[in-house]
Amino acid sequence: MKRKTLRASISFSAIALAGMAFAADASAACSRDTLQALADTYVNAQKAGNAAMIPLAAGASYAENDVAMNIADGVLSEALTVDFTRSFHDTTQCATFTELTAATHAHPYVIHTRIEATEDGKASKIESIVTDEGDWVFGAAEHLAVTRTENWDEIPANQRDTREAIQAAADAYLDNWGDPELPVPHGTPCSRLEGRISTATRDPQGQTCTMGAFPEKLNVSNRRYVIDETVGAVAIFHSFPWLDAGIAKDPGTPASQSFRVENGMNRYIHEVTACTTENCSRGRPGGPPPDAQQ
Ligand SMILES: *[C@@H]1O[C@H](CO)[C@@H](O)[C@H](O)[C@H]1NC(C)=O
Ligand SMILES: *[C@@H]1O[C@H](CO)[C@@H](O)[C@H](O)[C@H]1NC(C)=O
Repeated sequence: MKRKTLRASISFSAIALAGMAFAADASAACSRDTLQALADTYVNAQKAGNAAMIPLAAGASYAENDVAMNIADGVLSEALTVDFTRSFHDTTQCATFTELTAATHAHPYVIHTRIEATEDGKASKIESIVTDEGDWVFGAAEHLAVTRTENWDEIPANQRDTREAIQAAADAYLDNWGDPELPVPHGTPCSRLEGRISTATRDPQGQTCTMGAFPEKLNVSNRRYVIDETVGAVAIFHSFPWLDAGIAKDPGTPASQSFRVENGMNRYIHEVTACTTENCSRGRPGGPPPDAQQ
């Protein structure tokens, strides 16, 4: 895709003084309804191709694939045919997450978006991993076919995991990339959906989440979370080291992983990863991870 190189990197013009007041609020608890409304507005703005629909806090920032830019210059300026979205909300951090699949759009996308909000529902930080053709195992149609069949519904209150348990299951998966000996709590069934590849095709009722070891130890840094206990979900935006041949090994390429956790164990793992070079791994000694061979 190489949006990164095509689109100018324009810092969002901050209204510095007013912004300081809101920065202190960024981690305040806020209501689910407020976050739900903001996520809905974000999806509607993407459908309309009108970024101005999103209420912004003073000093708000916007970035795609870790590149800061003016929100009006990004993918929100394109009216996308949106086939499916899944959002969840973190009332503790006042943040929301949306997975958006535009498979039937002329230019297909799969986008993960993380929005930090003020208590009154204005976006203070918006960051998206925007993937399209040429990104890591990209395939919006295949992604859509799988994601829409999955159950990420609300979990009965007496069966919910704590925030800590949900985060621990997800972190263990990423920590394992740095130390293949570390155990990861995957449930049965458990499946991974990475771009167009679903491990569920191997065995829909089985545990197919376990990863083969990478050729070297990876330090997955720069983790930013959205955690929603009501649906057992966590999204982790992070840097994926090593994968992308076009950049330095560390910290790596922009990526997002979302997890559905049930009873402390991973049930679904979704990944989108942006590449600076087509398909990321071309030319990388050691080749892509084992799963990419499918
Ligand atoms: C992982 O990367 C982060 C950010 O670059 C760094 O602060 C940390 O020390 C690294 N950890 C290891 C174990 O290398
Ligand atoms: C990138 O992946 C796509 C889809 O598999 C493939 O058609 C294309 O040839 C790949 N490009 C390169 C440069 O490997």
